[in-house]
Amino acid sequence: MNKIFLMSVVLTISGVLPALGNEGDPDNGNALYEIYCTQCHGISGDGKGINIADMSVLPRDHTDKDEMSARTDEELMKAIKHGGKSVNKSVLMPAWDSNFSDQQVDDLVAYLRQICCTN
Ligand code: HEC
Repeated sequence: MNKIFLMSVVLTISGVLPALGNEGDPDNGNALYEIYCTQCHGISGDGKGINIADMSVLPRDHTDKDEMSARTDEELMKAIKHGGKSVNKSVLMPAWDSNFSDQQVDDLVAYLRQICCTN
């Protein structure tokens, strides 16, 4: 097997896997975010929601590319599902496990990736 063949196998597999797995839908994530997340994280995701006046730990700025790039998708999913405490962050970040399906959590992560890192 030559290198180019191997390379194309790797590219094919990495292209197909996300489609087979649970690739999130950022548009659906956006709709969920507007309902459930903006009061803390802000309408544009910049961490400046209406609640912050009374919060001792400020919500993550989800448009902060440097910070958000430092997180894996798994870490973001864990924070969303099990709350800030599960990733050694503030309990002010609620656990959403009982509100969302895994697909909805994936959709939210896809949306977070879009707002942090696509522009
Ligand atoms: C009641 C306010 C509140 C709401 C509502 C809220 N969050 Fe948070 N969130 C926080 C706070 C505060 C933090 C920062 C915790 C810290 O830095 O210790 C946080 C952190 C996070 C993190 C971790 C970021 C990191 O630094 O790793 C993610 C991911 C996240 N929120 C996603 C969401 C999503 C998605 C929603 C909506 C489903 C949501 N949050 C709703 C307050 C909130």
